[in-house]
Amino acid sequence: MKLELSSGLFTVDQLLEADVCELLEKGKFYKKRFARGQDKKVGGLSGLRMINMFFEPSTRTRISFEAAAKSMGMLVSNIIADASAMSKGETAIDTLLTINAMNFDVIIIRTDKANLPYELSRYSKSAIINAGDGSNEHPTQALLDLFTIDERGFPIGKGHSVAIVGDLIHSRVAKSNTKLLLAMGYKVILVSPLHWAPDPKEWGIDGYDNYICSNGLDSIKDADVVMTLRIQTERFSDIHRGKIDPTKYNEQYGIKEGTLTKNQVLMHPGPVNRGVEIDESVLYNSQSAILDQVENGVAVRAAILEKILRG
Ligand code: CP
Repeated sequence: MKLELSSGLFTVDQLLEADVCELLEKGKFYKKRFARGQDKKVGGLSGLRMINMFFEPSTRTRISFEAAAKSMGMLVSNIIADASAMSKGETAIDTLLTINAMNFDVIIIRTDKANLPYELSRYSKSAIINAGDGSNEHPTQALLDLFTIDERGFPIGKGHSVAIVGDLIHSRVAKSNTKLLLAMGYKVILVSPLHWAPDPKEWGIDGYDNYICSNGLDSIKDADVVMTLRIQTERFSDIHRGKIDPTKYNEQYGIKEGTLTKNQVLMHPGPVNRGVEIDESVLYNSQSAILDQVENGVAVRAAILEKILRG
């Protein structure tokens, strides 16, 4: 059953191709309106309330939701994890019910617990947007990444290919991106050491034939876009701990001067660990779309807020 977007955005599986195309078009509109030097007040959601409930650190996602919401006239609040009553033992459900009693229209949730945003939606009168739940999903990141891929000249439906390299199994960004890209007709090349390869069933991609898994970086040579990932040691279980030496990882999987061919685009969701998954010399060169991803995050999140709150 498709979950209605009016109840929130929990997974990219909720998105039909028409929803994605609409969000990309709206994102283009907001990107123009949010350019440096422009009057960024676009209204549209004037007087509605949004709250950020981030129980894991964030720079890009939290600030871009706040910037987008304020530009659209929303009243924005933030819960600071260590300063919330959860640090005194209040449960996530009781926190949610408390927030609901204040009549917020949308709640943005980041948590280390997979599926918590969806589980909380059963108790919520407000829409909920998943801003990253453990290793599960990060749907708004996948949408802004798709926007960036399209903007760099690789649109939906043209058979383009995207390689995703690194700590796949712990990455909600890799999982959401892979599912969305496959659903939109891209080829996906998943590259990681064997112990970080995802289980296609667990990721819900076993029904697709337009992806490959590889443990060698040479398999990225045919990709139009190469997305690399941070090693997420904070999500390591005991089986993964101690298996990775960052220097050896960089030698084998790091993106360096000369790794990409001149027409390939480099992406990274951030935050970056310089000298591990990506070298300083290529981080912000002309092939890198990493700061475009950050800029596009504000525009795409504005489009998502509008879609969820206004339909
Ligand atoms: N990509 C991403 O989610 O970045 P933040 O952790 O800074 O929000």
